[in-house]
Amino acid sequence: MNEAWFELIWSAIPYPTLVVDAADAIVAANPATESFGATSQRQMVGRPLAKFLGGDSAVLDVVRQARRDGVSVAQYDVTVGWAEQPRQLQNVHAAPLQDTDGDVLILMHPQGMAEKMDRRLGHRSAARSVTGMAAMLAHEIRNPLAGISGAAQLLEMTLGEADRELTGLIQEETARIGKLVDRVEQFGDLRPAQRRPLNIHDVLDRARRSAQAGFAAHARFTEEFDPSLPPTAGDADQLLQVFQNLLKNAAEAIPRVGGMISISTAFRPGVKMARPGGSSEGLPLLVTIADNGPGIPENLIRDVFDPFVSSKVNGTGLGLSLVSKFVADHGGVVECDSRPGRTRFRVRLPVWRGEIAEAEAEAEG
Ligand SMILES: Nc1ncnc2c1ncn2[C@@H]1O[C@H](COP(=O)(O)OP(=O)(O)O)[C@@H](O)[C@H]1O
Ligand SMILES: [Mg+2]
Repeated sequence: MNEAWFELIWSAIPYPTLVVDAADAIVAANPATESFGATSQRQMVGRPLAKFLGGDSAVLDVVRQARRDGVSVAQYDVTVGWAEQPRQLQNVHAAPLQDTDGDVLILMHPQGMAEKMDRRLGHRSAARSVTGMAAMLAHEIRNPLAGISGAAQLLEMTLGEADRELTGLIQEETARIGKLVDRVEQFGDLRPAQRRPLNIHDVLDRARRSAQAGFAAHARFTEEFDPSLPPTAGDADQLLQVFQNLLKNAAEAIPRVGGMISISTAFRPGVKMARPGGSSEGLPLLVTIADNGPGIPENLIRDVFDPFVSSKVNGTGLGLSLVSKFVADHGGVVECDSRPGRTRFRVRLPVWRGEIAEAEAEAEG
């Protein structure tokens, strides 16, 4: 294989690929590494890999293991943060280069689309399995709750001033449980999505206005809408809930002062989602909700869409689970990526396809 040929292959590898020497300094990096790390060859070559990945990066452990054992090593789900770039989960491969003095080839590839899809479908079934239990629990809790609240009311009439504070407390807390039950019960709402042609901007507008009047009063909003966006096939109530939940999380994450939430829409015809059976549906409508809060805690990032995952004292962990269920019911997907200072949720939806969608909805319902 001549050098030009080698150069061609090296440049064509679509994944960040590097060679480091025995001291873990970078010897070579392919163009995919340059774009992945937003760092030029010149900035990389000769410098220690640790300078870009951090000295405690798990990638270095993989490299050292490969060098020590003289075998190629793969590790999945490694969090890689290259310099200032957002952290990403990568599968990392390291292979010692024969006949060198400890050089190691590193190849990183992001968790494949297939794995991501799996996880999305996983969220969906997680939400589904909660559905039945949620409906049952909610129902079972409501009756005794009404009893407790009623008893507290009766007590209140016979008690002195000091003790009334306690019955007040009982009332407040039962009301709180009632609200939680309301939210849980939405999972039990098995009503199929009413898919109608829907202008997403109308829904986003409503979500933003109600957020601004309430829980997001402290936020500064920016909007960037693509006015030519075609309608989606959507259930207005469910999508409103989706965007409200995302805005609420953003509002809860941002600082009291200087907090910003951006809402944008775009048309991205390239994105397709594979369906069982081999067909695929285009998901060209993109809605992005981003905030400048501290980001999703690293230990939660893989699980935020699962039910009951919350980092908040009074959190239910149901907001994103509901988002994922509703978006999936629309045939769409929701993705998130996060780093300190920028957390972004992207909802991708299909466009309204007229009678085709109607016929399908009929067949489903
Ligand atoms: N915009 C965001 N910024 C930071 N963390 C977030 C954001 N959105 C969601 N999260 C994290 O995901 C968790 C789950 O969110 P959610 O399902 O809405 O439940 P809850 O809001 O009740 O905690 C939150 O507790 C929080 O840790
Ligand atoms: Mg929430």
